[in-house]
Amino acid sequence: MKIFLKNARVINPAEELDGVFNLLIVDGTIQEIGTSLGGNPVNYEIDVAGRFVVPGLFDMHTHLREPGQEYKEDIASGIAAAANGGFTAIAAMPNTDPVVDSADVVKYVLDRARHCGLVSVHQIAAITEGRKGERLSEMKDLAEAGAVAFSDDGSAVTNSQVMRLALEYSSMLNKPIIQHCEDHDLTKSGSVNESPDTIRFGYKTQHRLAEELTLSRDIKLLEAFGGRYHAAHVSTRGSVEIIADAKKRGVPVTCEVTPHHLFLDDSMLSDYDSDYKVNPPLRTKEDCAALIDGIRAGLVDVIASDHAPHALHEKEVEFEAAPFGMIGLETTVGAVMTKLYHEGVVKIDRLVEFLSINPRRILNLPLPTFRPGSTAELSIIDPDVEWRMDPEKFKSKSRNTGFKGWKFKGAAVGIINGDRFYFSEKLR
Ligand code: DOR
Repeated sequence: MKIFLKNARVINPAEELDGVFNLLIVDGTIQEIGTSLGGNPVNYEIDVAGRFVVPGLFDMHTHLREPGQEYKEDIASGIAAAANGGFTAIAAMPNTDPVVDSADVVKYVLDRARHCGLVSVHQIAAITEGRKGERLSEMKDLAEAGAVAFSDDGSAVTNSQVMRLALEYSSMLNKPIIQHCEDHDLTKSGSVNESPDTIRFGYKTQHRLAEELTLSRDIKLLEAFGGRYHAAHVSTRGSVEIIADAKKRGVPVTCEVTPHHLFLDDSMLSDYDSDYKVNPPLRTKEDCAALIDGIRAGLVDVIASDHAPHALHEKEVEFEAAPFGMIGLETTVGAVMTKLYHEGVVKIDRLVEFLSINPRRILNLPLPTFRPGSTAELSIIDPDVEWRMDPEKFKSKSRNTGFKGWKFKGAAVGIINGDRFYFSEKLR
């Protein structure tokens, strides 16, 4: 199989590469990158003039729901959604049923994913047995089975001794702990951010300190005992300040933000639409601005989708009873291109760092390269295509998104991952 990509603007800051090239990919391997015009017969010749070709995008925060909740999403539909959203690789969270806290479940997911193909799936295993926050999982066995990181996402590890031990194991195994920062005693049954708006709307609220206290404590533990630590979906101005302060002191903390925490805020909750119910909750406009400043300043390391599919019948209930989460694999690139690239917050090379390079560095995974002889792993982004977000067109099984109806400028239009590829209808 030969694919010839013509006039690609190839951008890979990890290789200090930025230029217009023709790329010849043969049986999943980069054969040539240069200015030659080819000429030999190929199976696909695609003129990608005006499009960016970047190292394959990596979503390090996806909920695939398999095993156990396949009515929301399964490995095959999650992979299809990832490919449609421009990702060549994803890391799946372990809050499935059963929880991914045993080597068998890690192997099950990785086997199923390999069978599905197209997108590379990595598994994050639970920090604690059953994600109960009490006893550490068999972290060494899980790492040996292929887990790339550990997280109880959906819940926090609130017990300081358990977190200390987890950090110590993370050093030994050289695999990060990904913490969902939440003091559950403070959040109780609150389902939205505590702010003047949400109190007026009559919601049960959770205070921002629930996130910030956990993050601060973890950074203290990290400084005292060492370890590898990544804060998932940070959402408040205070969290950005805590990260800034820690980084200034040389503490090796990394963090991610999601498109929904960057671009949606709690004033949008006036209609009691549970598609806006996520955890951590949507915060205020000032928090969104602080997260965007964090992106600009390089305090944020990763943009991750927190793709959290839920079925219609689960979301179409009273707000307080609905589960937390919105899907993100198929909206992340559109949202980020529209709001960060076109609004001039960051250039495309920085977006490649947030969406491709930094996730792999944090998870100790090899970076894709465009060197001849290497396996092709790339995403094609059209910066200028304009489209209206219609959840009915998604490959995901679920539709729960707060971006419904948004007009985006910019989209992922295809991926090549070794000898597998997917080109969306936006490329044609
Ligand atoms: O909104 C969320 N949904 N936040 C989480 O932490 C968990 C996730 C889920 O699993 O649905």
